[in-house]
Amino acid sequence: MDWNSALNAEIYDLFVRERSVYEWLNRRLVELAELEQADHILDLACGTGATVLACLRAMPARAEIVGIDASEAMIRVAQANVHDPRASFVRTPASELEGLPGPFQRVVCCAAFWQFPSAGAVFRALASHAPEGSRFVFNVPAERVQGETSTIHPIQAALITEIERESGRSFGGQPTLVDPEHLRTRGSESGFRLLEARRLVYEANQGELFELMSIPAMIGPLTEHLDEIGRDRLLERVRRRIDADQQVEVPWIYFIFER
Ligand SMILES: C[S@@+](CC[C@H](N)C(=O)[O-])C[C@H]1O[C@@H](n2cnc3c(N)ncnc32)[C@H](O)[C@@H]1O
Repeated sequence: MDWNSALNAEIYDLFVRERSVYEWLNRRLVELAELEQADHILDLACGTGATVLACLRAMPARAEIVGIDASEAMIRVAQANVHDPRASFVRTPASELEGLPGPFQRVVCCAAFWQFPSAGAVFRALASHAPEGSRFVFNVPAERVQGETSTIHPIQAALITEIERESGRSFGGQPTLVDPEHLRTRGSESGFRLLEARRLVYEANQGELFELMSIPAMIGPLTEHLDEIGRDRLLERVRRRIDADQQVEVPWIYFIFER
């Protein structure tokens, strides 16, 4: 996904402000992270700062939070969005955490874990920063979790139809990217125990999911065969196929690890 583009960071930030899905995802994440006892909190893949802002509202006044992200463009917007001396931001991939202040009693990661190239590398990087008793919470859409059921929504069906029409090929689908057993094993190798994988359901409408899929970093990987105009045309045809007000359920799995 092209998270490095400044335009993408702006479009993403606008979506986060205007639509409620990330607000909901972050609120649930913060509840499960139980930040009340933490002095230092780490937010992996902080994006434009929505997760850090949610943490700041819930964490103790004395606590500090560091947000890291691989994308300079996302970090820049986060720094512009968050004006709190308790928060700081560092550009680095989630697998390279040397030099960060810590130790972190809580680590959170919203809507990003499946994008990390190696779950094991992230657990290993965390091992030297997360002391005994620390907690690591992250969420993954159920459709990307092996063994979970999720329905194909009209927006997804419309996207597949239009992508197949444009490319002349049948859509390969998105690979199942997260296997809970793999996570459990990789986590335990670095001293993290999987406490729970909790399924929580977000009530969305098709219009919101359409806007989400229109973010360049989201639609880009699905339409690499198209230029920008082709992509816009495809999205417009998808938009005409859906009923923006139709309600759908979007399940997410929240993984809670402890050390
Ligand atoms: C959907 S956004 C989520 C941002 C934020 N957590 C939120 O809830 O708004 C995904 C983020 O993951 C970041 N990302 C992707 N791969 C990464 C990696 N290997 N290390 C750190 N950040 C990464 C992207 O740059 C992007 O900001």
